[in-house]
Amino acid sequence: MNLKAKFDTPDLWRKDRDHCIHPWTDFSTFKEKGSDIIAESEGAYVIDSEGGRYLDGIGGLWCVNIGYGRQEMADAIAAQAKQLCYYSTFGHIASPPAATLAAKLAQLAPGSLNHAFFGTGGSMANDTAIRVIHFYFNRLGKKSKKHIISRVDGYHGSTYLTMSMTGVAFDHIGFDIIEDFIHHIPAPNGYRRPPGVSLEQFCDQKVADLENKILELGPENVACFIAEPIMGAGGVIVPPPGYHRRTWEVCQKYEVLYISDEVVTAFGRLGEMFASEAVFDLRPDILTCAKGIASGYLPLGATLFSDEIYDVISVPQAEGAMFTHGFTYSGHPVSCAAGNKNIEIIEREDICGHVREVGPYLEQQLATLLDLPIVGDVRGKNFMMCIENVADKETKELLPAEVRIGNRIADHCQKRGLIVRPIAHLNVLSPPLILTKEQIDTLVAILRESITAAMDDLVREGLWHD
Ligand SMILES: Cc1ncc(COP(=O)(O)O)c(C=O)c1O
Repeated sequence: MNLKAKFDTPDLWRKDRDHCIHPWTDFSTFKEKGSDIIAESEGAYVIDSEGGRYLDGIGGLWCVNIGYGRQEMADAIAAQAKQLCYYSTFGHIASPPAATLAAKLAQLAPGSLNHAFFGTGGSMANDTAIRVIHFYFNRLGKKSKKHIISRVDGYHGSTYLTMSMTGVAFDHIGFDIIEDFIHHIPAPNGYRRPPGVSLEQFCDQKVADLENKILELGPENVACFIAEPIMGAGGVIVPPPGYHRRTWEVCQKYEVLYISDEVVTAFGRLGEMFASEAVFDLRPDILTCAKGIASGYLPLGATLFSDEIYDVISVPQAEGAMFTHGFTYSGHPVSCAAGNKNIEIIEREDICGHVREVGPYLEQQLATLLDLPIVGDVRGKNFMMCIENVADKETKELLPAEVRIGNRIADHCQKRGLIVRPIAHLNVLSPPLILTKEQIDTLVAILRESITAAMDDLVREGLWHD
């Protein structure tokens, strides 16, 4: 059907602009420009309400891992909605899809992460992790262990607590954050390490940053360290080899719990169901996941706890008290049915194997863009990639923020049928994990044309010269 006839675009555009508050809205342009309306989807493509078709270089938002428009996902969701759309899981009432999914996660997750608490997204999963960690140390009688160590440029969500753990300075502008028990240590960003420092030395320094922060606060006061295996929204920062294993060892030394925030990396993005142990050689005490757990077909997130933590929190509580944590939609049957079907598809089609095979091709092809004068760095792993645009490759100096180079490139890509995500001077890529080599070739060709077009614009506007 003709989409122009199906959707009344001007009417939707106005309704959205006047009544919908979007996450991360740029109000310097929103009221004038409004939003693009993405209305349909298929495989690795999304389609706007005017019929424009785009290769989705960002997988929705790092989440549509199995691709769009899967009939069997729609069927599983519809069947569960008809059978039992919802029932409370408070107290001792089980949801069949949630029980099945929790057991499956226990089977797939590293170490003794055998206990899943369900929510509806990544922020909630991280918020849950902190609330339960504080409770855990209270139960152990270690009530001073409250401080949280996070990292500059880490992204952990948008609730008050998880945004406070987030270390992306831009996200805090004008908003308040909790500062008294949350601390940020520097990011292990090898591209921006000081000149003359080797990657090994840099890794030593970043590991020492964690140990020094724990000692400064006093180990008896530090509850946990939270880290993404590869930092996502903070700029796809891949840590130097050994960093994660060594920071995990530091945590163990001081009884500091390690939370691996796998909201982006779990369910195949790095070629494994979970990246913590398989890619980075660590077994976290808590692992949080969301996004790819149901590939964005429905909202779902999970906090996975180790046996050791579960053993402490699962004993009878103080007189007359219970484990009072939970949400109306914890273990939602339809979301969990989507999660179960999604994992079944990932396993049946060996999507992790596909990522391990095709991911290096995406890395290599994107690296060919390094010959362009403003492409300073291409980094990431498998289906989690980023291009860092700079004014000067030698000095790594950035273009002024007002140039909005990431947005300019993204706009050029969109005109050419590709969606990439601008984050300040970066362009981030996290496509559906089903992308083929041919689609990767298209993606890289459009990026090359678009970066070139953006450079031409800058030269024409007198904002930059080669
Ligand atoms: C690493 C990481 N953690 C947590 C979150 C928050 O997840 P949500 O937006 O589902 O609350 C995100 C979202 O992008 C994320 O990238």
